[in-house]
Amino acid sequence: MKMHGGLQEMLVRKGAEASLFLEEWQGNQVILKHRIPKKYRHPQIDGRIRSYRTLHESQLLHEAKVAGVPTPVIFSVDLHESKILMEFIEGPRVKELLITLSLEARTLLCRQIGRMIGCLHKNHIIHGDLTTSNMILTGDGRVVFLDFGLGEKTAALESRGVDLHLMKRAFQSTHFRIAETCFAAILEGYVDVLGKILANRVVKKIREIELRGRYISGRSEHEH
Ligand SMILES: Nc1ncnc2c1ncn2[C@@H]1O[C@H](COP(=O)(O)OP(=O)(O)O)[C@@H](O)[C@H]1O
Ligand SMILES: [Mg+2]
Repeated sequence: MKMHGGLQEMLVRKGAEASLFLEEWQGNQVILKHRIPKKYRHPQIDGRIRSYRTLHESQLLHEAKVAGVPTPVIFSVDLHESKILMEFIEGPRVKELLITLSLEARTLLCRQIGRMIGCLHKNHIIHGDLTTSNMILTGDGRVVFLDFGLGEKTAALESRGVDLHLMKRAFQSTHFRIAETCFAAILEGYVDVLGKILANRVVKKIREIELRGRYISGRSEHEH
């Protein structure tokens, strides 16, 4: 922990793209997400990319909230410095939480997550990085979605399929034993919001994406 201009800050995480600090700001615990300069990019282009992503993420965080999906409150956005100051969400990440739950509680939680993804997609928002590290369960039972840096605004079936396919893959890689039941519950919640017809079209898309993946990996195995 270091003191910085009277501000106590603590590095929470240093990702490939951004560093996250836990700070105290006006009596609140806040998270500062700072997109750090990339030395390998031309400074001017780098500045533009970071500032664009900062703007884009803060806009999507807001739009998700309007769509009924809990996201951190944004206190300020500094495009010049590529910084977002947002509410610190207290609670376990779904990633660490899932395996501690009973089958019943897990199924309920996954259904809730599925409904939230349904709300995003219904409002033409694609999250872009649906993994259980980007979701926090709060004390009042809300699942807060984080990290919209890779998101986009579109109603394209393909994008919806890719979004959910990523969620499925995330379950398979981090929660292998429970992946199938979890993803089935996610789809149940998703159908509740999007309706059977549209949700079925997305499910078909997911299958198509899976087959495509298998075809590509099968082919590259032959090539090597
Ligand atoms: N508002 C927040 N409240 C609490 N924890 C957060 C918040 N934002 C991010 N985090 C924590 O920091 C991690 C990384 O943040 P994220 O926005 O996902 O950045 P990255 O793009 O590096 O994945 C999250 O997985 C979460 O544990
Ligand atoms: Mg993340």
